Amino acid sequence: MVTNRTFTMLKPDAVEKGHVGAIIEKITASGFRIVAMKLTQMTKADAQEFYAIHKERPFFPELVEYMTRGPIVAAILEKDNAVEDFRTLIGATNPAEAAEGTIRKLYAASIGENAVHGSDSDENAAIEGAFHFSGREMF
Ligand code: RTP
Ligand code: MG
Repeated sequence: MVTNRTFTMLKPDAVEKGHVGAIIEKITASGFRIVAMKLTQMTKADAQEFYAIHKERPFFPELVEYMTRGPIVAAILEKDNAVEDFRTLIGATNPAEAAEGTIRKLYAASIGENAVHGSDSDENAAIEGAFHFSGREMF
């Protein structure tokens, strides 16, 4: 299924450091339309389900701890080629390897605490958006 939507979370470190406004500005200035957005906090069960693909990885417990320690901003974004273009905008998982000007280069501290999530496929964008939002919250 091909869609023009992606899903993002501004992770707890980005919220804690007060980077929400700057990151949203960069996202909208890059041509993404906000379809849905909210401040929310994931439970441990939420994070374990959301990141279930990584459950066997050594960093999984710290990933769940990190993603649940405070509120996040969850959002659905729309743009032509949304998934790929948003992954380009956020940069590599490890900020040390992220391109200049990307969100992770600007705002991420480490590979573990990297400020922002972006869906990696159209299929996962739809699953992740539906995980956080009902149809009535999408515009
Ligand atoms: P995301 O799913 O959050 O957009 O990140 P990603 O695709 O760039 O990276 P992924 O491989 O899916 O990893 C998910 C998140 O797990 C944490 N991580 N920690 N300590 C580590 O080696 C490590 N590796 C990954 C990061 O928060 C990463 O974004
Ligand atoms: Mg990922």
